[in-house]
Amino acid sequence: MKVGISNDHAAVELKMSVLQHLQEKGYDVINYGTDSHESYDYPVAGARLAKAIQNKEVDLGIAICGTGVGISIACNKHKGIRACCCSEATSARLTREHNDANIICFGARVVSTELANDIVDTFLTTPFSNGERHKKRVQMIKDIEEDEI
Ligand code: RB5
Repeated sequence: MKVGISNDHAAVELKMSVLQHLQEKGYDVINYGTDSHESYDYPVAGARLAKAIQNKEVDLGIAICGTGVGISIACNKHKGIRACCCSEATSARLTREHNDANIICFGARVVSTELANDIVDTFLTTPFSNGERHKKRVQMIKDIEEDEI
């Protein structure tokens, strides 16, 4: 599986730590975020990752800013992106199972390194449930993007 990771200036250290963790686990990870502490706008960091998913350069993504909130809002403006902002692994599991989320977001000012690793491990290893009721609701989200609902 190919994984994209992106971040703003508030999340450089946590991004590096998560990136190393995933590489040690054997994931092929592409870094779309900034490695500098210079101000780097989270909508740009989110857009680079969202476009990589749209173009199928990567299968799933991880987006980190200070809170995780700004970058999740930005990612969700891109067609086909279902980004979940969370601070624990249960939501990371359920958003894959129920929402077929393709980006997980969290905040470097909110979660610890250990918790971040737990969240990404859960997110990347949980499949979409493919249950009819979940497929129907994900399709409804796609219909919103086409202004059909
Ligand atoms: C940057 O200071 C901060 O606003 C950003 O990382 C994020 O928390 C926004 O939601």
